[in-house]
Amino acid sequence: MNYLTDLTEETISDFRKRYGSEPETVVAAPGRVNLIGEHTDYNDGFVFPMAIERYTVIAAGPGKESGSAPRRGIVYSGNMNEEAEVLLEGAIAPEKEVKWYSYIQGTIAGCLEKGLNPPAFQAVLHSNVPLGGGLSSSASLEVATATLMETISKKKLDPVEKALLCQKAEHEYAGMPCGIMDQFISAMGEKGKAMLLDCRSRVPKMIPLENPEILIMITNSNVKHKLTGSEYPERRRSCEQAAAIMGVAKLRDASLDLLEKYRADLQKGDGLLYRRAHHVITEDDRTVNMAEALVREDWDAVGSLMFASHHSLQYDFEVSCPEIDILVDIARSLTGAGGVIGSRITGGGFGGCSVSLVRADKFESVQRCFEEEYYKKTGIKPTIFATRPAQGAAVIRS
Ligand code: GLA
Repeated sequence: MNYLTDLTEETISDFRKRYGSEPETVVAAPGRVNLIGEHTDYNDGFVFPMAIERYTVIAAGPGKESGSAPRRGIVYSGNMNEEAEVLLEGAIAPEKEVKWYSYIQGTIAGCLEKGLNPPAFQAVLHSNVPLGGGLSSSASLEVATATLMETISKKKLDPVEKALLCQKAEHEYAGMPCGIMDQFISAMGEKGKAMLLDCRSRVPKMIPLENPEILIMITNSNVKHKLTGSEYPERRRSCEQAAAIMGVAKLRDASLDLLEKYRADLQKGDGLLYRRAHHVITEDDRTVNMAEALVREDWDAVGSLMFASHHSLQYDFEVSCPEIDILVDIARSLTGAGGVIGSRITGGGFGGCSVSLVRADKFESVQRCFEEEYYKKTGIKPTIFATRPAQGAAVIRS
């Protein structure tokens, strides 16, 4: 099964049925998995994501110009089975309640600010990035929208500018103060490569990950813990406080020596700031080391770094959850002859997915074992798939 071809055909056929014509433009943008480097992007540190073979596809054709009323676009979401109208000109204020099309409207607002002038359109969108599973379904929707706006406006944005305006849409229209990782990789991913991104210089370095003997396995725990939504901003704030105590602009600038020097101050109260900073400082190192280990194909080192990252996210940064810890424990029991190289939680945390590097010839037995053991321990069926690094945003038809 080719997830892009099938989804594209489904989206085009839906467009034909809905609007009775052939779409002129078709675009796609992938979700992502982060191999390592978690909660480091907003600390100006390093991340190491790759695009996955799961996408948001949008098919579009010309819409009706609405006379003197502000120009509009119409988008039907196959996932939501709902149609929405978005504004294509004028000042566009975010709505109070976040809706699925808020991401689209926010991205369009950013494109208008950058001088794009999209004509009225009608569109159908479908996505096979699991929604809310920590694989950046929202970034793929934003980047697909920006790619559609570029194409129908016949003007290309600078890719960094494009990723940044998508991030801004997420901040302002979806109320999520995310870092830059998800939008960067969805916009700029390359087939067969993971992206080592220095979030300060914003210069990506593409690292080949094409060994046919290795698969990237994604396991959706199928849990999303009900949180107030304040955890992510809280983590950001703790990092800023820790950096301020150590007198550095961002945790990227701190070292373990500096952390020890300020240990007493950082450990005041519950010791939380010390642990948060300890995670970020060590995770930055692990991320750079992992990219190097991948180039050397030093799988032992890759595995140790992934497990160490999970440990740090579990105990220092406290963004894991019992279900994902169980998945990582299962992975740990399958290292060596079992076929697992390494495993960790991926994305923002509190549920979602784990990412594991697995020997391709052992994939099926690893998958079976994950399914059985996880079900035995939690009563939940996980959803598992293997992927290779995919291409970032693309225009399929124009
Ligand atoms: C979410 C955010 C990213 C990043 C990760 C944690 O996915 O969107 O910017 O901060 O969490 O690494």
